[in-house]
Amino acid sequence: MPSFSKNLGIDLGTISTRIADSSGILMDEPTVVAIAIEEQKMVEFGKGARDMTGRVQTETIEVAHPLQNGVVADYEITEALLRYLLQHVSGPMRFFRPRVMITVPYGVTSVESRAVHEAVLQAGSRDAYLIQQPLAAALGVDLPISSPSGNMVICLGGGTTQAAVISMYGIVAAETMRSGGSLLDEAIVGYVRRKYGVIIGPGTAEQLKIRIGAAVPQDKEESLEVQGQDQVSGLPRPVTLTTGETVEALEEPLKHVIETCRRVLEKTPPELVSDIIDRGVALCGGGAMLRGADKLLTKALGIPAYLVDNPATCVVEGAVKGLGLYPILKRNLPPV
Ligand SMILES: Nc1ncnc2c1ncn2[C@@H]1O[C@H](COP(=O)(O)OP(=O)(O)OP(=O)(O)O)[C@@H](O)[C@H]1O
Ligand SMILES: [Mg+2]
Repeated sequence: MPSFSKNLGIDLGTISTRIADSSGILMDEPTVVAIAIEEQKMVEFGKGARDMTGRVQTETIEVAHPLQNGVVADYEITEALLRYLLQHVSGPMRFFRPRVMITVPYGVTSVESRAVHEAVLQAGSRDAYLIQQPLAAALGVDLPISSPSGNMVICLGGGTTQAAVISMYGIVAAETMRSGGSLLDEAIVGYVRRKYGVIIGPGTAEQLKIRIGAAVPQDKEESLEVQGQDQVSGLPRPVTLTTGETVEALEEPLKHVIETCRRVLEKTPPELVSDIIDRGVALCGGGAMLRGADKLLTKALGIPAYLVDNPATCVVEGAVKGLGLYPILKRNLPPV
């Protein structure tokens, strides 16, 4: 009998939620929800909700980020969000509820993974499976992980940083740091405050990072003026930052990323390390798009690191592929 159920991959990220089926990406929106406090009802999701941040009456509308550092921070909002998303992408689900593979960071606790599993089932999926994000990423960038050989991926997310070595569909060595791109934004906020006595918001810092930021010094030095607030007078004050200054600001948080990757390599059997040296390290996640991230990691690890073609979407694309491979993958997936 043919199955009429849709197969969906969901990447529930700290910053962005992405949904895909075998035809491609169906949705890519910020993981932000606006809730009418009195009715306890979700009134907006995604970009619309994100744009309300700091711009609405806090007594009537709460703008919530239900995921924190890759894991569910608010179960009820996450479930409501997943219900909305599933209905949005698969229409009324009375008859054909979707099969879902949803991602979790590597190494989450069983309580954390059960929360995601339960939420997606309650939200209306027929079957729900979990997959570790680095494994999904490796599938999403078509690394040859079906063979007994070493493949390394580094996922630089917004709220997590994950490094993993994968062989024969299994994670051989890995580590998750529960901080990601947001920590880089905070480092820029701190740098601007210390150097110029100006306070900027994390959103402004993120814009600086994305538009002129870099992990290593660049040939082309760029600059950007942003608005801040004088630390002493509290009055508005513009400040101009250069690419070189972002490199300085980001040095410290990027050291932690390097340390995490080094620890994973230390735990990796030598045969697999030699494969990784030949093949390179795949960089994925939104943070991998930071200029020079590949150069920095190549130098620090002594292994060529490269930016994949689909850094932001490879995890969700891999989750869809993972559904098709479920019979092979199942012994390596997180228990629920
Ligand atoms: N061009 C860019 N340069 C540097 N950083 C970027 C760029 N584009 C996006 N980012 C950063 O990528 C991060 C978001 O990445 P991503 O969408 O992979 O996170 P996520 O999947 O929601 O989070 P997580 O996987 O940690 O739960 C943010 O910190 C954002 O600032
Ligand atoms: Mg992610």
